[in-house]
Amino acid sequence: MQKILSGKNFSPKVSGKAFASTNIALCKYWGKRDEELNLPVTSSLSVSLAELGTLTQISIADDRDVIFLNGKEVTPEAVFARRISSYLDLFRRKHLFFFKVDTQNTIPTAAGLASSASGFAALALALDDFFRWGLSRKELSILARLGSGSACRSVCTGFVEWHAGKADDGMDSYAEPMTETWPDLRVGVLTLSHQEKALGSREAMQRTALTSELYKSWPEKARQDLEVLNKAIKERYFDLLGQTAESNALAMHASMMAAWPPVLYWLPETIAVMQKVWQLRQQGQAIYFTIDAGPNVKLLFPEKLTAFIARNFLGVKIVAPFEN
Ligand code: PMV
Repeated sequence: MQKILSGKNFSPKVSGKAFASTNIALCKYWGKRDEELNLPVTSSLSVSLAELGTLTQISIADDRDVIFLNGKEVTPEAVFARRISSYLDLFRRKHLFFFKVDTQNTIPTAAGLASSASGFAALALALDDFFRWGLSRKELSILARLGSGSACRSVCTGFVEWHAGKADDGMDSYAEPMTETWPDLRVGVLTLSHQEKALGSREAMQRTALTSELYKSWPEKARQDLEVLNKAIKERYFDLLGQTAESNALAMHASMMAAWPPVLYWLPETIAVMQKVWQLRQQGQAIYFTIDAGPNVKLLFPEKLTAFIARNFLGVKIVAPFEN
């Protein structure tokens, strides 16, 4: 952080603005080796969700941070506002700025759709624009990571790999876009609940790492899955991609369920969708799923199944990560 911003100008423009897509991990980040810097135990791999994300505009406020979410002012005590303000504290330094932050999400907040990922990425990018720092993507990824781990992947688009890194200061823990594309790949977002989750991913990860016997096998599982996913992406081998992503998500959730007290993000609707996917697969359809720290399900399927998915999963939002 200090390394990135030392010598940088803190005289702002009138306002700064940026958009960041949210991302869905195919190989999850689950567990930190450093709680403060959000340094992960393992590397992870995601695909970004194009137009689903966060648009953030930032300007100077008078005597306190003023935070807007989807056009409404959020009270300073709200978790959302507190998280943003404490992230902004990192940038206040000796200049006592207060910020007006206007956040427009095209995804539900805190419902397992990683809005914190696009949120902190958009905020880091907007700060870069606001102060005209001209930081590199690697530096922006490191700054976004300080807000939320998965946000470091949202400064890139397409397939993205977050290198776990080894350094204590986190300067080698950042995300990089992969060169491969997959125009045929589709992600179906099924929002089964708009409710805020009861337990945040920070606490859930910590509890899992500390108490779950199954977590012991997670780092090796993630390492292997990452290797296989890289191969599947290079060869455009869809079933291998889907199978590995689904198995990775289930292993992450299994490790949470084996924590104490147990962590379970699924709702009956989540399980119903999983069973439907398995049933359709038995009938020969190439559909897979992944689930993050929430009850919502993301389907992975090839473009040719678009109409079939829309018919079978009512309300699904279909995203083409590599179109345009
Ligand atoms: O970055 P956080 O603290 O929101 O954690 C994200 C954790 C998962 O979404 C479950 C996995 C991931 O890699 O995005």
